[in-house]
Amino acid sequence: MLEGFDNVVLGPTGRPVTVFPEPKPLKGHGPARIISLSNQKGGVGKTTTAINLAASLAEYGRKVLAIDFDPQGALSAGLGVPAHDVPTIYELMLGTIKDPREAIIETAFPNLHVIPANIDLSAAEVHLINEVARETILARIIAKVAGDYDVVLIDCQPSLGLLTVNALTAAHGVLIPLECEFFALRGVALLVETIEKVKDRLNPAIELDGILPTMYDARTLHSREVLERVVETFGDSVFQTVIGRTVKFPDASVAGSPITSFAPTHQAADAYRQLARELISRGAVA
Ligand SMILES: Nc1ncnc2c1ncn2[C@@H]1O[C@H](COP(=O)(O)OP(=O)(O)OP(=O)(O)O)[C@@H](O)[C@H]1O
Ligand SMILES: [Mg+2]
Repeated sequence: MLEGFDNVVLGPTGRPVTVFPEPKPLKGHGPARIISLSNQKGGVGKTTTAINLAASLAEYGRKVLAIDFDPQGALSAGLGVPAHDVPTIYELMLGTIKDPREAIIETAFPNLHVIPANIDLSAAEVHLINEVARETILARIIAKVAGDYDVVLIDCQPSLGLLTVNALTAAHGVLIPLECEFFALRGVALLVETIEKVKDRLNPAIELDGILPTMYDARTLHSREVLERVVETFGDSVFQTVIGRTVKFPDASVAGSPITSFAPTHQAADAYRQLARELISRGAVA
């Protein structure tokens, strides 16, 4: 409780809990705001966030395109779409397919479409190294379909290489998932530096949409201390929404379903719905 504000409850990030309102339905769709989910550290919740934020925004009637931009293809698998023997983001990047609509797959979830990826994408950086304007290829692909969507989410691989630079160049905003564990802050400075370079040289309009604490376990002092450090370091850039640690996420991935469908009433499903409402309230998504 804050002094003088008897009814103010502090959330896990130590700030008063804000209730983000239920989003109003949209009257029309597009052009999309493009958000890149980036962190070169592996296993921090980029893909989980891409899947469940996409599903939550789609539930709120937003038209969402999720782009799998990782050769591991985890986003494609997690949304239950095929990634083999179908056109993928790789063919679009290489230009062997020109129209992104040829690679877009409708998922089983209304309003949620995917461009899949598979291991082929790991060869893209080598193939594109001598390409003119190689950093802007993804931006030019997305521009062809941005009018059809309210939001495009790009699930980056854990690296700061050419693919991630393409994602940052294409994006209006970056969302950085950060696992609530001891080494979480390591490497974030390098990521921020990369974002600054992209801003200087390729994409002056890019913004940091926010830092999302993930895998938070309120029962451990360790988790609470890390979250405190994250808020000390990044202040208001840290989302109010914090994603708790639960095995429901790996379970949902195996089922090829977002948690919002796999366990719709689970607290973790609500956490991603809240993130969707927070982004809409902040104006980061229509
Ligand atoms: N909040 C959570 N609680 C428990 N497990 C989680 C949570 N978020 C993600 N996971 C699990 O942790 C693992 C890594 O998550 P995820 O794949 O989303 O991270 P990533 O940053 O995309 O990883 P990579 O860098 O390899 O692409 C997965 O098995 C996922 O199911
Ligand atoms: Mg991933």
